[in-house]
Order: sequence, then structure tokens, then C-alpha cells
Amino acid sequence: MPDGTQSRQTNTLEPFWMPFTANRQFKSAPRMLVSAKDMHYTDDQGRQILDGTSGMWCSNAGHGRQRITDAIKASAETMDFAPTFQWGHPGAFDLASRLVNLFPGDLDYVFFGNSGSEAVDTALKIALAYHQARGDAKRTRLIGRERGYHGVGIGGTSVGGISNNRKQFGTLLGGVDHLPHTHNLAEMAFTKGQPEWGAHLADDLERIVALHDASTIAAVIIEPVAGSTGVLVPPKGYLEKIRTICDTHGILLIFDEVITGFGRLGDPFAADYFGIVPDLMTMAKGLTNAAVPMSAIAARAPVYEAFMQGPPNMIELFHGYTYSAHPLACAAGLATLDVFAEDDLFARGKALAPKWESAVHGLKGQPNVIDIRNIGLMGAVELNPRDGAPTARAFDVYLKCYEKGLLVRQTGDIIALSPPLIVSEGQIDEMVNILGDAIRETE
Ligand SMILES: Cc1ncc(COP(=O)(O)O)c(C=O)c1O
Repeated sequence: MPDGTQSRQTNTLEPFWMPFTANRQFKSAPRMLVSAKDMHYTDDQGRQILDGTSGMWCSNAGHGRQRITDAIKASAETMDFAPTFQWGHPGAFDLASRLVNLFPGDLDYVFFGNSGSEAVDTALKIALAYHQARGDAKRTRLIGRERGYHGVGIGGTSVGGISNNRKQFGTLLGGVDHLPHTHNLAEMAFTKGQPEWGAHLADDLERIVALHDASTIAAVIIEPVAGSTGVLVPPKGYLEKIRTICDTHGILLIFDEVITGFGRLGDPFAADYFGIVPDLMTMAKGLTNAAVPMSAIAARAPVYEAFMQGPPNMIELFHGYTYSAHPLACAAGLATLDVFAEDDLFARGKALAPKWESAVHGLKGQPNVIDIRNIGLMGAVELNPRDGAPTARAFDVYLKCYEKGLLVRQTGDIIALSPPLIVSEGQIDEMVNILGDAIRETE
């Protein structure tokens, strides 16, 4: 090993070990974003890049919202930090109260973290501790789903179902099982919205229950619409069946709404859209319009109440983060909720969904396009993989889109889109036209 001094460099791209990035490819041809406003990024060449992915499924109200920036500034000037272990600050309670009014059903309590990954690991820990609090400590198994993405904590990685995200990290948590994913090209290619086929895949949860026995299972965690794997829309009736099976067997249902929360489907949460109340619900990204990192976990009243039993001076849940409910994040969250309400952005997303659907499905028939999927303001175009080089074609399309001034997301051989809810109809057409050109120009 060198002694750490010889290779010190300044002002270079080298030291930043980039997350989920081909570091060497990026550093040989950097794509550097330097500012953002409304629907556009500006890159270091001064080019305008239309944002087809809300940053990374997160800037739902568009970029550089003045109200949010002002709230963060004012908060930083008033109080840079306040602990929330055994202390409090008003912003934390204000935001929690505003959020629970937005949540469906009796999701009446909220715990704060800083990222989607933390929200997921927190929800899994709450599920385990909930059963223990009720004297049911044998319930320790966690059930995820193939192709699921639940962040990068050891819990989220374990219940996640994307092979590349798991295979470098050994055996991960024990006692985890996975439902099958719901995607089937033969049965549902080019479906608009929810596929008719596939509700029966939820019955696999009964098989898992029979295998392990319900008395050993703590929780099932799924994304209501699987996002990061490339927008897999749940078949009609599927989520309803999962909810029923969980209820039958006393298993907690966790919806991971890190992507689907805050208007992505045109309702506050996918839980509202599908009319199903989970027991725990994770969220992040759109919560602060991504201006300050923050995540949250909503819990139904009976879950919270199960913890509020022992002596009142005892800590009920030995869990939390230094930055849980950080004042800047709370200020950003409150201002973001104001922006959503004032601009009626969820309704705007809902009104635009039919236009979005017909625009993205307009790419049917382009070379190598083998599927198109959509729901709310989410869309995905799946490409036929190149022989012997999976993901290469979609990566080339992604690079071409960037050259042409459009930010899209590439995952495997899929291009995913999720524009800010402020997108105009003209900008939807622009996105689809650029993506279509990029697909046609890619071998
Ligand atoms: C459903 C879901 N859960 C969890 C996460 C992890 O969030 P973070 O990257 O903020 O840790 C993501 C990120 O995309 C996600 O889509």
C-alpha cells in the first residue's frame, strides 16, 4: 500500500468514488450539472437539459422553488441544528402533523430519517420490534420481492430483489424470502396502466406462509409500483390480494413509497391511488422536493400504540438518527407541502396522466422497443438487449438523450421517465421526441 501521500491530487475528478456509476466511464467523459431551475438543468457547457426524471424521481415540484429555498435559508439562520433524542423543535412536530393529515387511513404517526434506505431499515426494525412488543417475538422473517428496490442498507439490500445490488455483499440477512416479480412480457407487453394478467402472483405469499408458517413472518415489503427496476405496474387485484393475505396471517404490510409518494401517481400516495392502507409506509425524495435529504416512515395507530405500554419514562423504541427531523429538512418539508397545495400539483399530475400515457406509448414500433409501461407520471421503455451485451443499448440511448438535452434514467435495458409534476404538455412531447430520436439512432 502506498503511504497515502504520493497520490494526493487536487482539483481532479479522481477522488470522488461515485455511487452507482461506472466511475472510469464517467471520468473519461463527465456529465456535469451546474444549476437547475423549474424543468431544466444547465450543464457546465451552458446547455439546457430537460429533466425527464425529476432529478432521480425526487424533484416533484420542479427545481429551484423559491419558497423552499427561502424556508431553508430562514431555518439555517435561526437554528442550524437541534437534537430530537429527548429534545424537540417546533418544525418537527409541525411537519409530522401536516404529514399525517395527508396520509390515508389511520397512518397517524411518523418517524423521520434522512434517506429512503434509512426509512426502509427503520420500517423493517419497527416491524420486528412491533411483534416483540406484542409478545410475538417469533415473527422475525421478512418477505421482499424479486426486482424490488429498497435502498442500500443491509436490511433494504436483503429484502431487495435486484441481483446486481445483492451479489457483491455475501449472504445478507438471514430469514428473508422473496415473492416473484410481476413482470411478464408475453402476457402484458405494451399494457397501458395496470395489466389485467398477474393478480394470481400474489398467491405465492400463501406458499411462503405455508413453507415458513405465519407465526414466523413479521412483514412483507413491496413497492406498490416497482420503480428503480424499470416501472413494473401492479396487475389489477394484485395489491388487494397481498393486503388480504397479510391480514389473514397477522403479517404487517409495508409499502415502500419512496418513489410513488407525493403525487407521482396523481394522488398523495400510491396507497390512495390503489385504495389500500399499508401498516407502515416509507417515503423520502418528494418529501422535501429533494432540496434537503429527509425520509419518513408512517405507522398505523395500532402499531404505535403497541409500543406505548411500559413505564412512561422508558424509551419505547431504541432507534433514531442524529439527523432525524433535522430543522432544515423540516423547513424544506413544510415549504414543499405548501408548494404542492398552492399549485395543486397532485391534481395536475393526475390531469396530465392520459396525455403522458398516449405520448410514451407513441414510441411503440420504434426499433428494439419490446415494451412500454406507464402509470401516473411514470413511464418506461424496455429495449431488446444486445446479444452478449446486456444494458449496453439502453446506456447508449441514455447517453444520446443527454447529448440531445434530455435527462432520462437507465436501468438495465430500460429507459425510465418520471418528469416533475410541473411538466407542460409541450415538454412531454419534447421528451418523447428526443427519446424516439435517440432510440432510432442507436444500433
Ligand atoms: C422504493 C425505494 N426505496 C428506497 C430507496 C432508497 O432511497 P435512498 O437512495 O434515498 O436511500 C429508493 C431509491 O430510489 C427507492 O426507489
